[in-house]
Amino acid sequence: MKAKTKPQLIVALDVGSHDEALTLMTDLRGTVEWLKVGMELFVAEGHEVIKSAKALGFKVFLDLKFKDIPNTVSRAIKAAGKLGVDMVNIHLDGGSEMIAAAAKAASEFPGMTLLGVTVLTSSTPKTLIEVNVRKVAGHPMVPIEQVMDLVRLGCSNGIRGMVCSPQEVNSLRNFGDYADTLILVTPAIRPPWAATPDDQKRATTVQEAVEAGSNFLVVGRPVYAPPTNIKTPFNAACRILAEIDEAWSQN
Ligand code: C5P
Repeated sequence: MKAKTKPQLIVALDVGSHDEALTLMTDLRGTVEWLKVGMELFVAEGHEVIKSAKALGFKVFLDLKFKDIPNTVSRAIKAAGKLGVDMVNIHLDGGSEMIAAAAKAASEFPGMTLLGVTVLTSSTPKTLIEVNVRKVAGHPMVPIEQVMDLVRLGCSNGIRGMVCSPQEVNSLRNFGDYADTLILVTPAIRPPWAATPDDQKRATTVQEAVEAGSNFLVVGRPVYAPPTNIKTPFNAACRILAEIDEAWSQN
């Protein structure tokens, strides 16, 4: 089931300095609407990067995946809101009290969307066993089951935006009362022309993510470090946008 509106591309600025980020922004300006600032860049030069991105007209997803006691997360969300970012996220496995505190804090900033991270797209069934996520009956839980449980927890505590693998979007688009209202943000996108999935374990192509019903496709390495035949981040972004258009226009 496709999303109600055409999915958008979010380019992950996974670089280490303001200068490198500015080079990418200059290349992508006017073509890409959304950028993601994650841990590395935020820790290095975060506020300056966010100011630059906003001044150049980009929307900004601050991807710091907060998980802490409810008071700390609530205060961090408010600080993100004051920074003027358009999207921010928490880990849903922080529990109901933390999620509800984050949702309440985010509600003070109506222009900012709060997302809940379900199961990281680098995780496998083995990862879940390592961190002791198991079924009570003893059989190992697979990521989709944990994703569904966390989405249920997020929805019942005030969150409608979810970060998941594009492989899980189809199940979530058939998720009872919440299916239509979920905003699904999917990293782990690998076009056929991109080198390898890297550390991403639950990846799909752009076409598969769009067909399944993703709202936002997050792409990092295939854009900021494109294969040599694609040459530039601008070319890579244009290709992905064309692939989104094509998949979207198909019935
Ligand atoms: O380079 P690549 O396209 O794999 O980058 C994916 C981006 O999405 C990274 O910035 C990563 O931190 C982020 N992300 C992810 N999986 C999640 C949440 C965020 O890969 N579950």
